[in-house]
Amino acid sequence: FNVPYAVNEPINSYAAGTPERAELQKVYDEMWNSTADVPLYIGSEQVRTNKKNDIRPPHDHRHVVGHFYDGDASHVRKAIDTALAAREKWANLPWEQRASIFLKMADLIAGPYRAKMNAATMIGQGKNAFQAEIDSACEIVDFLRFNVQYMTEIYAEQPISDDGIWNRVEYRPLEGFLYAVTPFNFTAIAGNLPTCMAMMGNVVVWKPSDKQMLSAGVLMEVFKEAGVPDGVINMVQGDPAEITDICFDHEEFAGIHFTGSTGVFNHFWKEIGARVNKYKSYPTIVGETGGKDFVWAHKSANPKAVATALVRGAFEYQGQKCSAASRAYIPQSLWEGVKNYMEADLKEIKMGSPRDFTNFVNAVISKDSFDKIKGFISRAKESNDAEVVLGGNADDSKGYFIEPTVILAKTPDYESIREEIFGPVLTVFVYEDEKWEQSLDLVNNTSIYALTGAIFSQDRYVADFASKKLVDAAGNFYVNDKPTGAVVGQQPFGGARKSGTNDKAGSAQNLLRWVSPRLIKETF
Ligand code: SER
Repeated sequence: FNVPYAVNEPINSYAAGTPERAELQKVYDEMWNSTADVPLYIGSEQVRTNKKNDIRPPHDHRHVVGHFYDGDASHVRKAIDTALAAREKWANLPWEQRASIFLKMADLIAGPYRAKMNAATMIGQGKNAFQAEIDSACEIVDFLRFNVQYMTEIYAEQPISDDGIWNRVEYRPLEGFLYAVTPFNFTAIAGNLPTCMAMMGNVVVWKPSDKQMLSAGVLMEVFKEAGVPDGVINMVQGDPAEITDICFDHEEFAGIHFTGSTGVFNHFWKEIGARVNKYKSYPTIVGETGGKDFVWAHKSANPKAVATALVRGAFEYQGQKCSAASRAYIPQSLWEGVKNYMEADLKEIKMGSPRDFTNFVNAVISKDSFDKIKGFISRAKESNDAEVVLGGNADDSKGYFIEPTVILAKTPDYESIREEIFGPVLTVFVYEDEKWEQSLDLVNNTSIYALTGAIFSQDRYVADFASKKLVDAAGNFYVNDKPTGAVVGQQPFGGARKSGTNDKAGSAQNLLRWVSPRLIKETF
């Protein structure tokens, strides 16, 4: 079985005057002016209940672009039963057959569904066209194609043989069903988590974020059209605690693939641990959770490069990437330059609806997010330990808009330098040039997280020293580049400490978490 060697899906620019832009605008307008109806998907059934919720764009919260439905306990149980009923046939389907479904899915998204996926992500999750393109078109296609390649390599492992003995390893799917819980901020994660488990022969109950339902609905359409058999990926929505509880309570619960907050993941571990005697097997627990991602600069760094990395790393997608730069450590001698370059960049940046392709910043996802982020900014304005040096305005009258904001912290443990904010707020701590070694201790010890981080230095000895000192501080570590924008097949993504189990997304290592190898020794 030969699959084409995976290469990254080219990124469309959507520059003015291109046919891609015209097509995306057309699909966007159609979606904006219609009402999507996103059901629960249980096996072959599309379920609509009498608990109907609105889908509203974050940048215009009075406009309704669709509905989705809450299921109850009976729907979750049915989704589990349906998944389990589909398991045997799916698990025994030759893996080449499964691979072809996911390759077709990639082609559908790269081609006929591309504009629809991007429009849904722009409208529903508040991404500009470029941020949507690198997520709901390219990253998801890359996940599918690269994972199929990794899968091919896993299944192609050579048996170990000797005279009269044949040893071989069968990569069986896990026994039972798997549960996927995905976040609002990346359509690609919603696409990847259920599919990489299904690819390895597993059956899945998937709960998307209730703030991603527009693109989740499009994803389910693609899954169906690509030929994922009924029951293999079931999508349920409703009360998250209830859905999770029912999944965890089932003796055939075989594992969870999660991206979301550290608090929720901690809770999951306890809940699963408390039920361990109930399960047939020890469930696989894979999670990518919070971050407080850093940028550290040495005095040898180029201040313009640092400023660009901070503006892009902290403010793209309104800072709502788990990888977003949210704390920076800048030497005194560079600070003025970095600040001036950031200020100049931010002056050029426009904020508003994603329908206008020149807007770099859109709205944050929800009223709750808006209030939380605004709280950090308001407290910084009043604190003696901090100063808002750039931005700081917020307005939720039409959409949840928050200006890119830079806080200067006067103490290294100021709240916004420690806590995850998940918004367009960067906190900077300025250190004395000669205390650069001590400043690395601050980077290492100020946060419980270890997702991404970046260092900037033109001095190779310093870069090497910092890299060793920060060895456990980030699962994805960037030298002279921003800490966001990992590309599948190039930078497998995941964090340690309280940022997750570090089972890199888009890697053979991740796929191997979803199999239970059987060793067979045969003599003849
Ligand atoms: N993979 C994304 C990034 O690197 C975050 O989830 O920005």
